[in-house]
Amino acid sequence: MRRLAIYPGSFDPPTLGHLDVIERASRLFDELIVGVGVNSSKKPMLSADERIEALRASVAHLANVQIEEFTGLLVHYATEKGAHSIVRGLRATADFEYEFQMAMVNRRLSDDVDTIFLMTKWEHSYLSSSIVREVATLGGDYSGMVPPEVGKVMARVLADRAQP
Ligand code: PNS
Repeated sequence: MRRLAIYPGSFDPPTLGHLDVIERASRLFDELIVGVGVNSSKKPMLSADERIEALRASVAHLANVQIEEFTGLLVHYATEKGAHSIVRGLRATADFEYEFQMAMVNRRLSDDVDTIFLMTKWEHSYLSSSIVREVATLGGDYSGMVPPEVGKVMARVLADRAQP
């Protein structure tokens, strides 16, 4: 039986911490689907297509990783894909409460799907998409916080946006 997991997130933008979790999960599972969640009530910095493009370029070296968009409930998406595992990254204890709540809700919705937590490298543990967004939109250097391929997409998007 092929072991398949879903790694869901907003990835707005994907960070080096996200890529580290993807690489770790790709070693643990036969196949990993990175699910880019689309929430129509949020105005993201990067569109879903831009996030997908940036992630695809960043995981080109990982043969067992696919990037897809998903909408609706995560457990429905996981079930539709035939996945029994959801992967989430944990950086610090501050993440735990939210992640615990989400894992419990997802278990309540489907007892067939388990959430597996992976820790990022220590050096990425301070990174979050919201910090990167803030640095980037205020003109700071975010290049050491995101994979180079993500940096290229962000630079293009921010430059286009700066056009009068
Ligand atoms: O990277 P994020 O923003 O913490 O990812 C959150 C995400 C997309 C994984 C979460 O919002 C999600 O699963 N959304 C789908 C809707 C859903 O299933 N909600 C119930 C679980 S709380």
